[in-house]
Amino acid sequence: MNILNLLNNWNLLHNFTLLISQESIQQIQSRIDIIDIVGTFVKLKKRGANYLGNCPFHNEKSPSFTVSPTKEIYKCFGCGKSGNSISFLMEHEKYSYVESLRWLANRYNIELEETETSPEFKAIQLTSDSLYIINNFARDFFRNALMKTEEGNDIALSYLKERGFRQDIIDKFQLGYNPAARDEFANAALEGQYNKDLLLKTGLVVNRDERLQDNYRGRIIFPIHNQSGKVLGFGARIIKTNDKSPKYINTPENEIYVKSKILYGSYFARTAIDKANECLLVEGYTDVVSLHQAGIENVVASGGTSLTPDQLRLIKKFTKNLTIVYDGDSAGIKAALRGLDLALEEGLEVKLVLVPDKEDPDSYVNKIGAAAFNEFVKNNKKDFIFFQLEIALQDAGNDSSKKSAVVNQIAETISRINKTEEFTRRQDYIKRVSEMLKIEETGFNALVNKIIRDKITKEESKSFKDEVNIPVEPIPEQDTNADLLFNKDDLHEQAIARSLIEFGLKEWNEEQTVAQYVFDVMDELDLHELIDNKMITGIISLYRSWYEEGMAPTAKSFLYHDDSEVSQYIIKVMETDTEISLNWKAKFEVKTPTREELYKEEVTSTFNYLKLRKIKRLINENQTALEKATDTNQQLLLMQTHQYLKKMEAEIMASIGTVIYK
Ligand code: UTP
Ligand code: MN
Repeated sequence: MNILNLLNNWNLLHNFTLLISQESIQQIQSRIDIIDIVGTFVKLKKRGANYLGNCPFHNEKSPSFTVSPTKEIYKCFGCGKSGNSISFLMEHEKYSYVESLRWLANRYNIELEETETSPEFKAIQLTSDSLYIINNFARDFFRNALMKTEEGNDIALSYLKERGFRQDIIDKFQLGYNPAARDEFANAALEGQYNKDLLLKTGLVVNRDERLQDNYRGRIIFPIHNQSGKVLGFGARIIKTNDKSPKYINTPENEIYVKSKILYGSYFARTAIDKANECLLVEGYTDVVSLHQAGIENVVASGGTSLTPDQLRLIKKFTKNLTIVYDGDSAGIKAALRGLDLALEEGLEVKLVLVPDKEDPDSYVNKIGAAAFNEFVKNNKKDFIFFQLEIALQDAGNDSSKKSAVVNQIAETISRINKTEEFTRRQDYIKRVSEMLKIEETGFNALVNKIIRDKITKEESKSFKDEVNIPVEPIPEQDTNADLLFNKDDLHEQAIARSLIEFGLKEWNEEQTVAQYVFDVMDELDLHELIDNKMITGIISLYRSWYEEGMAPTAKSFLYHDDSEVSQYIIKVMETDTEISLNWKAKFEVKTPTREELYKEEVTSTFNYLKLRKIKRLINENQTALEKATDTNQQLLLMQTHQYLKKMEAEIMASIGTVIYK
């Protein structure tokens, strides 16, 4: 069960319950010009009655993608994909049906008439709009504080100037400063009548002692823009180095700030990437800004984590040549490498450049200048696959079993270049890698082909299994174990608070602590609203504000909290453990390792309860919609949604059954 599926489904659900009036749809349909729409994303040339271009759905050198303006359809004779304008947007931009309609309406200036918009969807729209407005206000406030106040000039502007940032570049990137006082921004925002809850959502302020306080006090502010230049959020850099607080604080996930989809600088880089037909990827904010200042503008940053599929897709829209420019000793390089097998599947050509020891792109371009930096990148680009191979070989040394593991690993990487039209590219790699490894090419070739075949067989049997597993009829409502979980008591809500307090600072994975993971999941799946107990909500947000301030909250922080209700409650929470455990033990007859050993499972299972609740809620909403629905198409969609939700529910139930509790 993965979260992306769950989320996707929620998006679908929102869209299912969102009805755009038939008149609006007709209006859009009458205006659609498929050449114009496809032409936005694909370069098309007229050939007789039709238009021809390179297929955006697979890699090809000679164009076989045909668009017919009279039939209003496209078809690719290479990969077989075909459809109309709406399916093009759905496929190419990964929009849902409704999102495609919105895009088209926007394009043709058609006012969408929406009937029965689901209240949840409306709320999200409203919230997003408001968050953008607040972010604009904040950006202007911070810029003003940087440029027009004495404090900003003395502390922040002087720092930026010292680092060599020119005024024009500070203006271009709209850098700012959050004053050091407790609540200068918060007060200005409240004076401006901005909503308190929304302000908290932006992460710009936190609630402390019943008052809003600035979260980025005394920090340099880097606004983060989306593709069209709207401010999604901020990165805030500390000025004085202080190992207690993190160097950067970034906007928490909210309706508009979705980290996995953001590339810092993409707004400013787009044209330059087009022109160079190459995208440079760096780690940090300052790398992007400095390279721009040096005139190298085809550059974006990922924020030091591994690239997500969404980010790769964004890059792929601009160019298929991705060059990663990282500092050689950075931990980031490992993180960056991790996402890259996916890049191969997307058909990206990935190169890697490491800047010399102790430098990052920012410092290095400042040191050697733009021309030399460009030269350096050009001369030191390494193919990602060969780079990976070199590192693996170094690690393996003379150990022969490790070496054979390297062979398998690199074969697996190469097997991801598996599109028909990439055959030559793959053979090229096989040849060169065999040489580097001093192994026989035919044998290595056979290995790669076997991996590709195995994968295809696996896929096929998987999709077959999926087919037979999906019940055709909606599953009738029945009492499941899940119902046991929805009793009035709040043990499962407590469990979240507990996991945080006990395990929050432990490692979830290489990039995240448990706490960060908990917050991300709760934000992403919007689980906050499920927690009814105000005390628990309070504890979670208190933990969060401490944590995000760079403190290390533990049970003690709460036990000695000056609010005795909080400390009493924490004591109670810490005690309840055995009760849950006994129930679960009786129910599922399971072994008893310690909670400490199993903290990851505990966190996962805790979330499973919340997810179940959320799904239950969605099922109910869906059911209500189904009862009201009169249109057969819509009924069908709602029924499918019902099946899907029930399937997810069953999956989560199944995984709960295997959870081991003390
Ligand atoms: P760096 O530590 O390399 O920072 O982190 P930097 O961009 O070079 O900044 P300067 O030059 O010291 O001012 C690289 C990126 O990782 C993310 C930020 O996106 C940063 O730009 N990061 C780093 C965080 O989000 N939080 C941190 O505490 C540190
Ligand atoms: Mn730096």
